[in-house]
Amino acid sequence: MKDLVVAIDGPSGVGKSTVGKALAACLGVPYLDTGAMYRAVGLAVKRKGIALPLEDPSAVAAIASGVDVRVTGSAADARTWLNGEDVSKEIRTPEITTYASAVSAVPGVRRRLAGMQRSLALGGGGVLEGRDIGTRVVPETPHKIFLMASAEVRARRRFAELQEKGSPQTFAQVLADMEARDRADSTRADSPLTDDGTYTRLDTSALSIEEVVDRILAAVGRPPQPPG
Ligand code: DC
Repeated sequence: MKDLVVAIDGPSGVGKSTVGKALAACLGVPYLDTGAMYRAVGLAVKRKGIALPLEDPSAVAAIASGVDVRVTGSAADARTWLNGEDVSKEIRTPEITTYASAVSAVPGVRRRLAGMQRSLALGGGGVLEGRDIGTRVVPETPHKIFLMASAEVRARRRFAELQEKGSPQTFAQVLADMEARDRADSTRADSPLTDDGTYTRLDTSALSIEEVVDRILAAVGRPPQPPG
């Protein structure tokens, strides 16, 4: 592995994207949101008229292998493409969040996306964030960070974001969804979210984004961000 690869894994809503983007900008390396790729496949599956819960994993894997999923742009302007269409916004709805979680449990989907992610990482380095980056995608990188915060704290942050967007979801719904996703992501048979002991663990509950980024920079052996 010739370029710097930083793996950031952790549960939903823990701040991986915000931290990952800031870190990639600081380090001057590409940023890859691997969850966006699962979301794009989830959207493709939904558009094929397939309902949840998924009943035929091989049909889902076939859809995943037939679509063109790309993530482009720098940390400041990351975009997700499905068959040449910019779906960056559409993949952020609660419905597609549920589809993404469902398709991410299908081994054929994971094989395809993890392979693409690995090629991107080995091709030019970067900050990759997801659930299995340090255990499956690039297990050989020495730079692995596992971000944590309680489901309560994460749901409170997500609820505030949704309220800003005018979403009608209640806090109780947001917390229940968060807990359901945690369960699904960490109990699936194929590369579940897990800290296998090779990570630097960071609890983000009481830390600002800057503090989290500075701690990761220290773990990676780089100087802290300039103030301001
Ligand atoms: O990080 P996110 O919420 O955008 O991820 C969407 C879904 O994809 C989530 O349910 C977990 C799954 N995922 C995964 O299984 N492996 C990854 N490397 C990234 C995301």
